[in-house]
Amino acid sequence: MHLACRVSRMACCLRAGSLCPTTTPAQPWRPAPANRASHWAGTCSSAARGVAAAASASSEDAPKPLTFVPERIGFIGAGQMGEALIRGFLRSKVSSPGRICVSVRDVERQDALERIGIGSIFGDATDGGSKDVAQFSSVILLCTKPQAMTEVLQSLAPHVTSEHLVISVAAGITLQTLESALGEGVRVVRVMPNTPALVQCGASAYALGKNVTARDADIVDLLLSSVGFCIAVEEKQLDAVTGLSGSGPAYVYLMIEAMADGGVMAGLPRETALALAAKTVAGAAQMVFGDDGGSNSSSALGMVHPGVLKDRVASPAGTTIAGLAELESSGVRGAFIRAVSRAAQRAKEIGS
Ligand SMILES: NC(=O)c1ccc[n+]([C@@H]2O[C@H](COP(=O)([O-])OP(=O)(O)OC[C@H]3O[C@@H](n4cnc5c(N)ncnc54)[C@H](OP(=O)(O)O)[C@@H]3O)[C@@H](O)[C@H]2O)c1
Repeated sequence: MHLACRVSRMACCLRAGSLCPTTTPAQPWRPAPANRASHWAGTCSSAARGVAAAASASSEDAPKPLTFVPERIGFIGAGQMGEALIRGFLRSKVSSPGRICVSVRDVERQDALERIGIGSIFGDATDGGSKDVAQFSSVILLCTKPQAMTEVLQSLAPHVTSEHLVISVAAGITLQTLESALGEGVRVVRVMPNTPALVQCGASAYALGKNVTARDADIVDLLLSSVGFCIAVEEKQLDAVTGLSGSGPAYVYLMIEAMADGGVMAGLPRETALALAAKTVAGAAQMVFGDDGGSNSSSALGMVHPGVLKDRVASPAGTTIAGLAELESSGVRGAFIRAVSRAAQRAKEIGS
């Protein structure tokens, strides 16, 4: 079974591929200890817990997995990331259009959201939209740019109560900043998602604020696992997550484009080259999550080391090792390491 099927409750990019079996064996389920975040680090917990609980239920009082978030969800800002999450939540059916409201300034975006059935659309968050969102919803997702966050938090603070759970996706904006801007008792979670959430192939990490409840953690886990893989991390790791998976899709697009260019240079039509490049990236990623049931895995998450997979492709004096030598002599490995590290540093700068 694929890791992502164990770790993701409703959808995952690996399951979307053809290799992933539909059956999910039972897993041991343990009640979450008080420090859920640290217990959960390393697994996308509630997915595993939910599936396992369902599979091993021997009595009627066994915990039933949540599959739907009944709370009304309000988005402040719906650009690239906000819209990806809205569409992802609707596709996965973890929420429904009538349970979602959005504060968004751009008229074209308002129209686009109306077209997908969102009935409650408010204007500028700093001009009354925050109040409307807070009145409509009990879960509020902050999806504006970090630079707009001070203004948005100021406009939202008077309307946030103990009834709300506030989830911020803004790079660099700390839990402490969010909690002190919104009021010390406010329940806050920081999330770093990525845009493939739109197609339920996201990779997200989250850190829980000091006031969140067990149910809040369940809601966050359910929402994020409905649009891909998710994992709980310590807050201090979120800048690194931002540099890796938050920004990562852009690095991969660049890689796909460059590989396709290489294909064109070697004589392929552009569209053929692009399709082959993109499918190669998707397939290779899927192999990392256990192409052979994890028999080669030394990883707690059941993954196969990419070096092992790379060596299998590279035969002696073959084409692949010739290509790999070219990549290494061009410093591609170092460039990726520096890209992630520089983006993580930039996230830290934004928050300071
Ligand atoms: N893009 C990613 O891949 C990605 C990945 C992970 C996390 N994030 C995080 O997601 C957040 C949003 O990024 P993004 O790329 O989605 O940016 P974006 O496309 O610029 O979206 C930001 C949205 O917020 C709206 N907005 C700004 N101020 C507002 C206000 N006062 N009231 C209502 N709406 C307002 C903007 O409206 P206007 O268009 O009218 O300005 C825009 O629709 C950032 O904090 C970022 O760190 C992004």
